[in-house]
Amino acid sequence: MTKPLATEIFEDRNPRLELDAAEIFVSAGPDKGQTRELTAEPVRIGSAPDADLVLHDRAVSSRHAVIHLRGDGYTIEDVGSKNGIFIGPTLVERARLTGGMRLRIGGTTLLVRARGGRLQIPLAKRGQYGELIVRSVAMRAAMATLEQLAKSDATILIEGETGAGKEVAAETVHRQSARRGGPFVVFDCAAATPTLMAASLFGHERGAFTGADVSRPGLFEEAEGGTIFIDEVGELPRELQPLLLGVLERHVSRRVGGKVDRTHDVRVVAATNRNLNAEIKAQRFREDLFSASPSAGCACRRFGNGARTSQSSRIILPSSLALCWHRRWLRCSPILIGPAMCANCAIRFCAFRHSPT
Ligand SMILES: Nc1ncnc2c1ncn2[C@@H]1O[C@H](COP(=O)(O)OP(=O)(O)OP(=O)(O)O)[C@@H](O)[C@H]1O
Ligand SMILES: [Mg+2]
Repeated sequence: MTKPLATEIFEDRNPRLELDAAEIFVSAGPDKGQTRELTAEPVRIGSAPDADLVLHDRAVSSRHAVIHLRGDGYTIEDVGSKNGIFIGPTLVERARLTGGMRLRIGGTTLLVRARGGRLQIPLAKRGQYGELIVRSVAMRAAMATLEQLAKSDATILIEGETGAGKEVAAETVHRQSARRGGPFVVFDCAAATPTLMAASLFGHERGAFTGADVSRPGLFEEAEGGTIFIDEVGELPRELQPLLLGVLERHVSRRVGGKVDRTHDVRVVAATNRNLNAEIKAQRFREDLFSASPSAGCACRRFGNGARTSQSSRIILPSSLALCWHRRWLRCSPILIGPAMCANCAIRFCAFRHSPT
């Protein structure tokens, strides 16, 4: 017997979604015993190491399924797997999760279990937040967090697939914050030349390297009193990560070739489309730049050192359709997704249509 996860949206002064707390329990298969709590964040299931629920099952595709939150509860969706999702003998493309439901993917069985108690997910108002269009429940949940963070001076890590709106979100945070009168400076780690990254971020002194004819301030100095947006932070070379940690922890940096530390009053907002947990496991990203919060459970991780930047936080922007892993297919044939678009999809659709590739 399966039982619906009772879900209700309240649109009063504190808009929120309330639903029965639930988790996914791996009840059979090589990963038997694993559990994954369901929250407002999408859960990507697959054998790829960057999945949120990694299944070491040869019959599970690297990108198999995504569970995402909607106004009527959680939905699991096949994202182009080879072997599909079965409920009993029935192959399903998409299904609304209910307590006690068993989903078979490859040789693995996932059991949806009610955890007891209710989960309250604050929602932002439907409409617009700064430049961001906010329609789907998942986006409203992400924006409720972003609104709170914008009011604080927290360091923020924005995660999301390509086109999810990370850069717009970062600029919105700046425009909605007390720093709005200061500069908003962007640095894209994916576009920068690795050897010049430190000089770009922190500046350099004359003679620091061949071609350094004059001293130059770095972007942190330019962003004084405002916000620096470090895009694709997952691409920041490991040797530069301690320098970024220095700014996050102690608010100081030193120009390349310089002898004095400079103090900064700059808020850092960073973004990545990588799963930094997987990057940490692969030893490409320092754990202390992204350390797990001991108190906040699995939903909240801190960007920067927990003790010094206790306000730091992480936000995951939902992708349209929550089918981030469909990206390649969407790029080839954006027109096909027209009828399937959810509330936040129109934007993504435009982004893909104008995509040069
Ligand atoms: N919720 C949204 N509201 C308004 N515009 C959006 C939203 N989501 C995406 N966009 C638009 O989609 C496009 C891509 O957004 P943006 O560049 O911020 O994405 P991104 O997450 O930084 O992607 P990438 O990883 O490719 O850099 C932009 O034109 C942006 O204005
Ligand atoms: Mg971007």
